[in-house]
Amino acid sequence: MPKKIALLPGDGIGPEIMAEAVKVLEAVGKEFSREFTFQSLPIGGTAIDEFGDPLPPQTLQGLKESDAVLLAAVGGPKWDQNPGNLRPEAGLLRMRKELGVFANLRPVKAYEPLLHASTLKEEVLAEVDLLIVRELTGGIYFGDKSRKPHVSGEQATDTLVYTTEEIERIVRMAFVIARNRKKLLHSVDKANVLESSRLWRETVNQVAKDYPDVQCEHILVDNCAMQLIRNPRQFDVLVTENMFGDILSDEAAMLTGSIGMLPSASLGAQVGLYEPIHGSAPDIAGKGIANPLGIILSAAMMLRHSFGWEQEAAIIEQSVQEVLAKGARTADLAGPQDTKVSTSEMGDLIVQAIGCRIPS
Ligand code: NAD
Ligand code: IPM
Ligand code: MN
Repeated sequence: MPKKIALLPGDGIGPEIMAEAVKVLEAVGKEFSREFTFQSLPIGGTAIDEFGDPLPPQTLQGLKESDAVLLAAVGGPKWDQNPGNLRPEAGLLRMRKELGVFANLRPVKAYEPLLHASTLKEEVLAEVDLLIVRELTGGIYFGDKSRKPHVSGEQATDTLVYTTEEIERIVRMAFVIARNRKKLLHSVDKANVLESSRLWRETVNQVAKDYPDVQCEHILVDNCAMQLIRNPRQFDVLVTENMFGDILSDEAAMLTGSIGMLPSASLGAQVGLYEPIHGSAPDIAGKGIANPLGIILSAAMMLRHSFGWEQEAAIIEQSVQEVLAKGARTADLAGPQDTKVSTSEMGDLIVQAIGCRIPS
């Protein structure tokens, strides 16, 4: 049976990078005799323009009937003044909730050929290989929101809620992952201030009893943000709540040289969702210069996590390494020594590398 993949190109650079991910999946399919069917569905700003809804019912239906979902990015200045529920981002959040993907894995790997491309020092970055496990369907993103008149103008409220159950399931997943890596887990919170973080920390301590072989450390989020830049190699797996994970992962992306490099997998239910961590990059949209590696590596995560195709995933990852080692870079990473390539040229190079790795 061919795997049914729902494609959500979205807005801005979304369609440009999605085209490259599809090329790569087709190349892998050809080499390994795997069949895919692709269904492209509207989401975000383009869906608002066409259907007046950032997550139209037919999109949601299509996602639920698929074997896995690949999303590029949503959002842009055109929709920035829309009311909250009519913003592109609202469609993305609703989709994550509807799919039940509470665990967002964001691997951060410093590729050797890119060490010099970061704004940070090479010796700090060498061999960084960490994983941020971000809670994705709870916390302040999904709590009650309100606006009401106030003597000074208006009052706006966002509520941060977590239940023990929501914390426990993500933390348990992080422990299992940590057990299969270096057996080191940092739980990131703000327990010196937030009640929800105190519940988070207590729950982590309870769950930790079931994983005595994993070293578990608590770290406050402000210190963690600093330590990620000071000495990122001290970390292996980090687990944290929704908003802290969002912010820390953009920060950690710079350990790789560009936010365009980071993939993610959102798991926890039947259908997995795969997306790069970056946004729709309106400042470079339409120029053909966006880095497609984040979405290409997300496609690799899809093959591994949704279909259990380890070899197929690994070949994509090795091809990315190889192409980078040969000096090809999109504009976000290119230095004077490098060969600057466009979005589609980068996709072509990955496809070629895949072809060369498998003797036919
Ligand atoms: P962004 O990630 O889109 O861009 C930040 C900076 O990184 C920009 O300078 C951009 O050009 C650059 N960049 C991002 N991805 C790149 C890539 N693949 N290649 C090269 N450069 C890249 O963040 P932003 O500017 O804060 O947000 C823009 C829009 O995207 C907003 O509407 C935001 O809500 C949305 N957004 C969507 C997602 C998503 O769909 N998952 C994620 C983050 C932001
Ligand atoms: C991300 C994005 C989203 C988030 C936005 C667009 C809702 O920043 O996927 O990291 O905050 O989760
Ligand atoms: Mn983000």
